[in-house]
Parts: sequence; C-alpha cells; structure tokens
Amino acid sequence: MYEPSNLIQEAVRQYGTKREHLLPILQYVRRKNRFLNEELLEEISKAMDLSAADVYGVASFYSFMDMRPLGHNIIRVCKTITCYMKGKDDIIKAIEQRLRIKLGDTTPDGRFSFLEANCIGWCHKGPAMLINDRVFTELSPEKAVMAIEEYM
Ligand code: FES
Repeated sequence: MYEPSNLIQEAVRQYGTKREHLLPILQYVRRKNRFLNEELLEEISKAMDLSAADVYGVASFYSFMDMRPLGHNIIRVCKTITCYMKGKDDIIKAIEQRLRIKLGDTTPDGRFSFLEANCIGWCHKGPAMLINDRVFTELSPEKAVMAIEEYM
C-alpha cells in the first residue's frame, strides 16, 4: 500500500491542482489505495487548496469512491430502474447465497466485496453487474454465479 502523502503528491503531480482535477485525483487515489478515507480526503483538500467539505462532497457523491477497505474483487450489481425491472433482486439473492454474505459485506477471506451501484450504462442489456472493471450483462442468477466463480 502507498504511503498516503506520497500518493497525494504523486496524484497532484500527475493531474494538477485546479478544481476540475478533483475527480481524476480522487479516482487515481482510490485506484492506487483501493479505498478513500478521511485522512486521504483531508490531504487532497490541503494539496488542492479546497475545503474538506467540497472534497468529501464530491467523493461521497460517486458510488465508486469506496470509503472503506474492500475485498480483492469488487462485485457491483446495478440497482437502477431498468436492471431493477429486469430482476436485479434475483441476481442479488443468488450472489448472496453463493458467497454466503449479504449485500454490502466482504467475504471473511477478503476475496469478494458485494455492493450495488447506480446505472453502469448497460441498461439495454440488463440486469448488469461489474466485477472489478469487467462488465457482465443479460444476467440470470445462474449466469451471475458462474461469473463470480471465475474469480474463485
Ligand atoms: S439501469 Fe442497470 S445498467 Fe443502466
């Protein structure tokens, strides 16, 4: 794991300190550290000369800005209307049963975290989910479980 202050310096060096650089910096720091926390957000606010409230507001707006340590693989099932209507609840149940955890939890071995996300842009092929950066579409409960088993 990166030393936070080095990480923030690296992010600022790469993206700059203007207000419009905040989102790419948050994404970069989240990707490198695997999650954000208050300490990191505070450092970003200082490095960019922005208020902590501003930085926290942007970070908390996006569901991909994880604010706690997560598992090695992150499953995000789309919870938005189209996927909801196409059966995302059945997908969630099947994944909960397969992993023996509830939505929002991480498996005891740290291999998977199971989350919901807002629309991921695959509404026409819902229900959809991500495992890390990979998209899985037109899911059935069985197809979702098979996708997860690839990561076991
Ligand atoms: S509503 Fe699920 S991908 Fe858009």
